[in-house]
Amino acid sequence: MLPNFSSKAFLAPMAGVSDPALRLQCKKMGAGLVVTEFTSIHSIIAKENQLKENKKTIQEFIEFSEDERPLSVQLFGSDITSLEKAAKIVEPFFDIIDYNMGCPAPHITQQMAGGALLQEVNLTREIFRTLKNAVKKPVTLKIRSGVTNASKYLFKEIGQIAEDEGISMITLHPRTVSQGYSGHSDWEMIKELKEISNIPIVGNGDIVTPEDAKNMLDETGCDYVMIGRGAMGNPFLFEQINDYLKTGSYKEYTSRDRLDSFFDYLDLTKNYKIKFANIKGQAIRFTKGMVGGKKLREKISISKNLDELKEIMSHSNLE
Ligand SMILES: Cc1cc2nc3c(=O)[nH]c(=O)nc-3n(C[C@H](O)[C@H](O)[C@H](O)COP(=O)(O)O)c2cc1C
Repeated sequence: MLPNFSSKAFLAPMAGVSDPALRLQCKKMGAGLVVTEFTSIHSIIAKENQLKENKKTIQEFIEFSEDERPLSVQLFGSDITSLEKAAKIVEPFFDIIDYNMGCPAPHITQQMAGGALLQEVNLTREIFRTLKNAVKKPVTLKIRSGVTNASKYLFKEIGQIAEDEGISMITLHPRTVSQGYSGHSDWEMIKELKEISNIPIVGNGDIVTPEDAKNMLDETGCDYVMIGRGAMGNPFLFEQINDYLKTGSYKEYTSRDRLDSFFDYLDLTKNYKIKFANIKGQAIRFTKGMVGGKKLREKISISKNLDELKEIMSHSNLE
């Protein structure tokens, strides 16, 4: 059974972005569910072998905190034996096992993983069955609509197979793999999937304001919404969505508030092994859209260590 979600707004898995510090920050701001960055089933198995020797667990590799719960771990990779093994390794630590069938990056699709799987009906059935047999925790799925424009309705068939095989919830980002991030996601497809499904559907794609979140819920009938790019450097969005859905209004935040919240993020990073390059990337995202942000980002990008970065962020004279 799925856990209870405290909000209809979820944080999307984003490689290099949804690190444990950002996830925790979004959780504190009201996200109903957070998902780890996608993780290769092969790397989980390799790491676990190393970690076992030192009597450590996979939590050293996929870092998280108890305060993030309910917490979903996202896996990718389609080798059936490895999938079964990896799912069993992560199961004790997470509340949901999510499977990635959306990633459009060529280095992922070329290894028959991510979005490329949408056209492999038999293999996907085997994947869902394997995951369901391997673990007792709920298994969820994240998909794109199809591979190319000619196959853009694959999500319907895959959705039905997933439901038949006992998948508990599906997130749909209604763009094809070949579309990448171009254009606008086709929310009509979320509506269509919701209409043919008996399991919760999470709508995803191009939500950047509380109004967008409400519109997606109203227009498509989806059960939850998931936010990726709109939440980058903007954890306030979850509180704003929750307030807007409840009361019809929400608090606005200034550029100064966003800069301050970067320091909250930074504080949370102390507990994890997050690469400096990734923290720098977050700093850049926390200044996006700000007056004077371009100059600030130039300085951020040449900073060499945390002290330099802190100095730059604290002496910015943005308003
Ligand atoms: C930098 C970045 C990294 C991403 N990494 C993942 C990932 O690891 N797993 C996944 O399922 N989707 C990943 N996505 C896709 C998002 O989860 C989401 O489906 C997509 O960005 C559309 O939602 P949005 O319009 O709210 O950003 C990533 C997106 C971005 C921008």
